[in-house]
Amino acid sequence: MAKVLIIYQSKTGNTEAMAKAVEAGAKKEGVTVVRKALEAASVDDLVQADGIIIGTPTYFSACSAEIKRFIDDSIKHYPNLVGKVGAAFASSGDLGGGAETAILDLLRAFLVHGMIVPGFTTGGHYGPVSVGAPDAGRVKVCEALGQTVAKLVKRLA
Ligand SMILES: Cc1cc2nc3c(=O)[nH]c(=O)nc-3n(C[C@H](O)[C@H](O)[C@H](O)COP(=O)(O)O)c2cc1C
Repeated sequence: MAKVLIIYQSKTGNTEAMAKAVEAGAKKEGVTVVRKALEAASVDDLVQADGIIIGTPTYFSACSAEIKRFIDDSIKHYPNLVGKVGAAFASSGDLGGGAETAILDLLRAFLVHGMIVPGFTTGGHYGPVSVGAPDAGRVKVCEALGQTVAKLVKRLA
């Protein structure tokens, strides 16, 4: 069965709340979904997944240093992630605080891995962002991300 892996870092819970909504959305498609906090994740998990979704808090308009370390460590599996689907989401403290650039840090890394990166016509073109904890509207957008990635991995399977 197609598998979607969601990895996120969250110190104060906002990115984790987004990750839970992404998980709920992916599960609607009947795929296997694994959600892991960064501390529990290994780059070896990436190899088993068909779709990889990473969530990060926005730190200085970028992904967190810990998420960047994980991305750098993923070189271990280069180029074995080619053809997998990659997507990302980010929480921030402010509107315009750099969540989109944080997401783009991750999407660029996925492209370097030769992964397939979907764009979105609504709800955030690069992926969902949330200022602080996601409200009901942001939860829906996160669910849509998970569902879209799950649909795509099923089509590619
Ligand atoms: C070191 C640090 C840097 C931050 N830099 C930014 C920033 O550049 N822009 C922004 O909007 N928020 C910034 N924030 C706020 C966090 O992105 C925001 O609180 C986020 O929701 C935290 O996610 P979490 O609850 O999952 O840990 C920063 C927070 C920390 C601790």
